[in-house]
Amino acid sequence: MKPQLVVETGTFAGVSTLWIAEGLKQNGLGRVITCESDPEVFAKAKERIEASDLAGCRNESSLKPQIKGTIDILFADSNVPLREQEVRHFLPQINPNGLILMHDASSQMKTVREAALRLEQEGLISVVLLPTPRGLVVAQKRQGRK
Ligand SMILES: C[S@@+](CC[C@H](N)C(=O)[O-])C[C@H]1O[C@@H](n2cnc3c(N)ncnc32)[C@H](O)[C@@H]1O
Repeated sequence: MKPQLVVETGTFAGVSTLWIAEGLKQNGLGRVITCESDPEVFAKAKERIEASDLAGCRNESSLKPQIKGTIDILFADSNVPLREQEVRHFLPQINPNGLILMHDASSQMKTVREAALRLEQEGLISVVLLPTPRGLVVAQKRQGRK
């Protein structure tokens, strides 16, 4: 996709952040910003994330950050019940040709799956449900899509 800006909610140890940064490095462009609300978790992840020039991390709630610019990929991976709100929060900034990824959307973990289908029913996004072990929603914003 060659995203210029990737936003991740929920850093934890920074493993997914660093994999995203590795992809950006191979692309030769782009930056990932991740946010983590827990100060202790953030403190542990900060150093390893900041070792990558392509990744930035913020110790703030996923619903707070003022991120400038168009988001090409949103990876919602914080607290499961928050992921719907996160998509609603960032939706105005999401590139209509970009991707919205919501983790933990398997049929056993109903919260995220139902949230994604609700957003789809409201006409906000179009959803594909990928049957990965934990389930992944791959979605696209409907407004502005060409
Ligand atoms: C599933 S883990 C993230 C895993 C990480 N993305 C990975 O794959 O390596 C979820 C993280 O979200 C954090 N979290 C919970 N609520 C949050 C919020 N409102 N904003 C940002 N982070 C939050 C938790 O502290 C936890 O570290």
